[in-house]
Amino acid sequence: MPQTEYAIQLEHVTKTFGPVIANHDVTMNIRRGEILSLLGENGSGKTTLMNMIAGIYYPDGGQIIVNGQPVDIRSPRDALALGIGMIHQHFKLVDVFTAVENIALSMDKGEKFDLRRVRDKARAICEKYQFALDLDQKVYEMSVSQKQTLEIVKVLFRGADILILDEPTAVLTPQETEKLFAVMRNMKADGKAVVIITHKLHEVLSVSDRVAILRKGEYVGTVETATATESSLTEMMVGQKVELNINRTTPQDPTRRLAISHLSVRSPEGTNVLDDVSFDVYGGEILGIAGISGNGQKELLEAIAGLQHTESGSDVKFFAPGEEADGAAGQESQGHPRCRCAPELCAGGPPGHGPGWHHGHDGQHDAEKLWRRPLPAGGPPCPA
Ligand SMILES: Nc1ncnc2c1ncn2[C@@H]1O[C@H](COP(=O)(O)OP(=O)(O)OP(=O)(O)O)[C@@H](O)[C@H]1O
Ligand SMILES: [Mg+2]
Repeated sequence: MPQTEYAIQLEHVTKTFGPVIANHDVTMNIRRGEILSLLGENGSGKTTLMNMIAGIYYPDGGQIIVNGQPVDIRSPRDALALGIGMIHQHFKLVDVFTAVENIALSMDKGEKFDLRRVRDKARAICEKYQFALDLDQKVYEMSVSQKQTLEIVKVLFRGADILILDEPTAVLTPQETEKLFAVMRNMKADGKAVVIITHKLHEVLSVSDRVAILRKGEYVGTVETATATESSLTEMMVGQKVELNINRTTPQDPTRRLAISHLSVRSPEGTNVLDDVSFDVYGGEILGIAGISGNGQKELLEAIAGLQHTESGSDVKFFAPGEEADGAAGQESQGHPRCRCAPELCAGGPPGHGPGWHHGHDGQHDAEKLWRRPLPAGGPPCPA
């Protein structure tokens, strides 16, 4: 392939979904041998834009240029043939197969199937970029981070030299994130173009060479990371100065409204999803629950909302304002109308921006609908 400065150029690329303009007239580029962060609020069109490069969506207008050549990418297969591989947020792996079998599955029809050769080539890729991957491990035995590693090795195996990672760190621990960044740097050193979509500004600043910013589907600009700060990036994302230091007022007269004690939930397979969790929530405060996704947050919210079967000894009590002081025992959670649960809502985005919901995303509309709707007496409107 001819070597040009740019791995990819987008010219006036537009994509709409019915009345929603996901990307409008986007003109930007991705250099080879760089790590480019693609930054923007929820719903700003990052995934859609990258999906067009990866052959998932086809642009309504504009041109994609790969290695200096205008191209027509109509499928992920077309994209891979051009050396473009995308690692999506939801993995596409066969659980009962091993890593090497999954890699072999991604081979094209007509390619000679030789598992030993697949293993040798995959092992060479792992050694070259320092991936920690057991090629003979079954996918169902793998951690999320290992599955993600396998997805990356899969696209490298197929010859990708332009890699797009859609929010890869959302499911990783800080240690796993560092390992991912190390392999990304190895790929960059090998001349590959790497695009990372992330919301986390400190990650953007630590891993990327340049940052491209989208706002409400439009391209705002690309800056050299070395010259950027969290505050300058946030301003570009949001379109106005944002105060990153939130002035947190101390809750006045906090009264206990929710008491969780010894809450345990088991999965249908019998594993402990929540193990003896106890905490209180007070009126007038916002309580954050931190954790890597998939570590019981969903079950915790559902258990509080009375939508999860809990183990014996678990106790969830609600108190009306002043109720506890009056000596009332509180009310059990089952179907309690005072509890509202909205686990699918996305409250990500730049710190300090807005009260929680973000512009232009379906989640916002869901949130607003939920927020404004009179709530049923029988229980919380929580998605199953
Ligand atoms: N398949 C689809 N059908 C209809 N609308 C869509 C579709 N995909 C995306 N959209 C809409 O297009 C806009 C851009 O969405 P996109 O997922 O590209 O944003 P994003 O920047 O990746 O957001 P996030 O940070 O939440 O992942 C949003 O308003 C979204 O609701
Ligand atoms: Mg996205």
